[in-house]
Amino acid sequence: MFNDSIQYQNGALSVDAVRAADIAAACGTPVYIYSQRRALANLGRVRQAFAGMNAHIHYSAKANASLAILRALVAAGAGVDAVSGGEIHRALLAGARPETIVFAGVGKTPAELRYALEHNVGWFNVENPDEIRLLDQLAAETGRPARVALRLNPDIAASTHPHIATGHGGAKFGLPADMVRDVLAHQTDYPHLRFEGIHIHIGSQLHDTQATRGAVEAALNLIAPYPAIQTVNIGGGLPAAYTPDETMPSPEDFAAALKPLLAGYTVLLEPGRSIIADAGILVVTALYRKQQAGQTFLITDGSMAELIRPALYDAYHEIVPLLQPAEGAARCPVDVVGPVCETADVLGRSRLLPDIRPGDLLAVLTAGAYGWVMASNYNQRPRPPEVVVSGDGQTWQITRRRETWDDLARLEESGYHPPA
Ligand SMILES: Cc1ncc(COP(=O)(O)O)c(C=O)c1O
Repeated sequence: MFNDSIQYQNGALSVDAVRAADIAAACGTPVYIYSQRRALANLGRVRQAFAGMNAHIHYSAKANASLAILRALVAAGAGVDAVSGGEIHRALLAGARPETIVFAGVGKTPAELRYALEHNVGWFNVENPDEIRLLDQLAAETGRPARVALRLNPDIAASTHPHIATGHGGAKFGLPADMVRDVLAHQTDYPHLRFEGIHIHIGSQLHDTQATRGAVEAALNLIAPYPAIQTVNIGGGLPAAYTPDETMPSPEDFAAALKPLLAGYTVLLEPGRSIIADAGILVVTALYRKQQAGQTFLITDGSMAELIRPALYDAYHEIVPLLQPAEGAARCPVDVVGPVCETADVLGRSRLLPDIRPGDLLAVLTAGAYGWVMASNYNQRPRPPEVVVSGDGQTWQITRRRETWDDLARLEESGYHPPA
């Protein structure tokens, strides 16, 4: 059992009550499958952990922007954290009320800011003095005053992979404390902005609560002289467990560490991974097995184009057969790789798997977050379909079909041939 939704049932890996192999048979592989039930349970757990505070959850759409998933989370009361005009557009399509959308991001374009203003987005998390000036100007032009949370870069090293740490001084994110102080001291220079919040996000997959606590303390010190600032956005970063024995801090641990500091404030959270990572799997088919240079390679039809996290961050994902191996079955180490022309195209190294043969199905677990959204068409690979197993756990739907080779060609100017 991997979690309440992803588990072997009668020897078959299932997503709630649906056998993953049945979905693979109908849709082909690679295919992403998400449990709506698990995503909603994760949302409920974060909500419950922060109950008793005036806390609002803005699901971070960058983790998984599937419209079906967004719709389910929005219908369950989540707001959305968007980092681009495209994500705002999706959040609105999914039924999010504009005032429940927070717009974050280190490089928002003028067109995106204007779009967000025109659509009455609730919060602008700003991270750059030029952006503040631009937003003030655009707010004046559109006649829509903007509510702002300054994103503090607290210069705190988060305990996580360096590529997903965002709160240290050398990171491109946020405003250093002295700049936050300066902007707040001169806030009347920006008559079309309402400075009502402070924002931090020190990284993703945070291994401890202490760094976040330190960042919140730093943020609270900066806003102490400004009673109009009553909202603290503590960002995302709540971790997911990528291995069964991983002990990571829970939402309850984060809430317990932060509650004493944040009493009396309105608290916004932007969880992404903790909501959707363990609700999703990527199912792939083994194509070939070969022995080379003392290693066994299992080549699958899934690759770094569908799931780039192992190549990008050295991320670890459990890989399991769809058919539950017999107790005590012999296992040997294999490198599970894809067909893409990159040595980095690895889904998992040295995995102890039973005898997997061409045609056998495997699931890459905890693939719901930063999976499909980071997929590319590299090597002209059509992006895979997304399937959602419904909240009752019994039925499933293709919520995004598999791309075709024609889809890939369609966006190029037809008929253009370079002159000879
Ligand atoms: C500003 C901000 N908020 C929220 C998130 C979501 O983080 P996570 O998926 O770790 O919860 C991110 C991710 O990088 C982010 O940059």
